[in-house]
Amino acid sequence: MTESFIQFYTPARHRKYIDLGNGFSDVLSYCKNRGEVHWVEHHGLIWASTYKMINNMMELDKFNDVPLPEHTDIVYISALYTTHLYQAYVWAKQYPEIQFVVGGPVLRSNIFELRGRLPKNLILSTKTLEELFEIDEFSCKWELNIPDVDERVVFSYTIDTSCYWGKCIYCNFSMCKDRIRQNPQYEFKGIKEPKNIRINTSSTTPKQFKDIIPNLPVMDDTTYEFYMRFGNCELEALKSVDFGTNKFKLMSGIEFPSDRMLKYMNKGITTQEIYNMLEFLENHQSNVSITTFIILGWNELTAKDIMNLQTYMDKLPNNCHISMTRLYARPYTKIHNIYEPYQIQQIGPFYLGFIPKIDKDKLELSRIARRIVNQYDNVMDYTKGLL
Ligand SMILES: C[S@@+](CC[C@H](N)C(=O)[O-])C[C@H]1O[C@@H](n2cnc3c(N)ncnc32)[C@H](O)[C@@H]1O
Ligand code: SF4
Repeated sequence: MTESFIQFYTPARHRKYIDLGNGFSDVLSYCKNRGEVHWVEHHGLIWASTYKMINNMMELDKFNDVPLPEHTDIVYISALYTTHLYQAYVWAKQYPEIQFVVGGPVLRSNIFELRGRLPKNLILSTKTLEELFEIDEFSCKWELNIPDVDERVVFSYTIDTSCYWGKCIYCNFSMCKDRIRQNPQYEFKGIKEPKNIRINTSSTTPKQFKDIIPNLPVMDDTTYEFYMRFGNCELEALKSVDFGTNKFKLMSGIEFPSDRMLKYMNKGITTQEIYNMLEFLENHQSNVSITTFIILGWNELTAKDIMNLQTYMDKLPNNCHISMTRLYARPYTKIHNIYEPYQIQQIGPFYLGFIPKIDKDKLELSRIARRIVNQYDNVMDYTKGLL
């Protein structure tokens, strides 16, 4: 029985860097003894823009042209984005004689619902490869093969896949199967100048900040990325940590900066907590950059919320980056029950949820909010064409 392994990398932001995601890094040494491990360049967009691509069926046709690197009896695929899952589906239909087994974060996070038939030769697995091959979790040597590219790379060394808060009504991280790296060794030390290393994509806990930050290898030209809540307990943890000389990017979902909206979405923080964090980061940490996320497309906004947004924008430190997305209702989230669909999203048999319907006056408020944010520097606007 021959086996091969596929991981995808994504050229990002006009090929300024290459995102390797997670790949098989935790089991690479083990997999290499069983078969070849291949990188496949993939233009499946990051999840935030996935729905733009889905609207353009021409883009979906392109999946038919992605070559399968090796024809083995079984092909194991690590899927980070839903587009990787769809690629596996396309290959399974193209090669009925090959058995495809897909795992990875997309399968472990309840991000889609199966609403159609799968080809018989496609198995979706929520197990880690360690579980599938019946070896101990994290028992293999962490390794990363860097694909043959000129660009600098970004990759994840995830400590914790789930979210300790897990209550925000639009998010499905709480449904993500827990996988916590015990005793991290930060084995990426020898890798040549990665651009960024992503430590957590859900929410870093106060304890994790204290444990991880002082132990990260010193890498002069690399930025360590953390997703986090801008809450008081996180602030207290950061105050007690020596950031050393490393560079950090702290990313936080503000989503909508009014106390009413934060309460509605169950964020568990107040605008005052956000402002305390911003002030601390601005005054105390010259080696920290900040990215905050705003979600538009709520049916709840009021004119007062828009005024609160203006206050927030005025208070943001100059070098802060902002990313704007339109609210998306993924299956199994509370938002999915609250809102009606405006545009349902499905690729092949995989139902991905919908863009919610909102009232005309509320749509206008979101457009005003977008105009306000776009007046500032360093804005990534993923709502273009969606609001
Ligand atoms: C990977 S999440 C992690 C956020 C981080 N844990 C926090 O709470 O600050 C990053 C961002 O994706 C965006 N996001 C997540 N789910 C979304 C949804 N259903 N619709 C629109 N944006 C979403 C939010 O802006 C969120 O802050
Ligand atoms: S948005 Fe962040 S804090 Fe809220 S549940 Fe998701 S990962 Fe956790």
